Amino acid sequence: MNKPLVALLLTAFALPALADRFPLPKSAAFEEECTSCHIAYPPQLLDAASWRALMNGLPKHFGTDASMDEARRRAITDFLVKNSGRRASRDANGKPALRISETAWFRHEHDEVAPATWQRAAIKSPANCAACHTQAAAGDYRERGIRIPK
Ligand code: HEC
Ligand code: HEC
Repeated sequence: MNKPLVALLLTAFALPALADRFPLPKSAAFEEECTSCHIAYPPQLLDAASWRALMNGLPKHFGTDASMDEARRRAITDFLVKNSGRRASRDANGKPALRISETAWFRHEHDEVAPATWQRAAIKSPANCAACHTQAAAGDYRERGIRIPK
């Protein structure tokens, strides 16, 4: 093989395909408990350690109480861990990130969004995926579905 071709192949394998669609595996418990306050965040966007940490802190869930009975909590934890992403999700201190929006991957993917844009009244928070990704509730983050509200 010639050198440029080898280099090209190496690059292709080194870069994981950037997924933009995350089909939601079926889980009645997850849908009932985790989609009333916000969209169904794709389980694929945090790793297993992050989901475990998040599910261990439900009474203090980002300023709200999202606790539930223990059987449900365990079932949803299993569901999230089983469908979690393989890319490590760590926060700035190297701990399992509790937010998709604080992972290095997220910051990189959104580096073209200006700090002031996140503050707009129609957006308010990077956690508000559906403000810009119009098909986020269906797990579709493709570029064609993005509309940044003014
Ligand atoms: C009582 C309302 C409520 C329920 C129920 C709830 N959440 Fe949340 N969740 C929130 C709030 C509020 C935030 C913070 C939103 C913000 O920062 O704008 C949040 C944020 C999150 C985030 C971080 C989003 C990001 O990347 O910034 C994840 C992940 C998450 N929730 C997962 C879950 C899961 C899993 C469940 C079910 C076990 C759940 N939530 C149930 C209210 C809730
Ligand atoms: C302020 C609007 C905005 C918000 C809110 C937002 N995004 Fe994005 N997102 C963008 C833009 C702009 C891009 C870059 C599009 C590009 O260059 O292809 C992007 C890219 C992405 C991509 C890559 C898509 C691709 O084509 O490869 C994913 C996945 C994604 N965002 C997920 C999320 C998730 C999950 C949330 C919520 C936790 C979120 N985004 C919140 C605007 C936003």
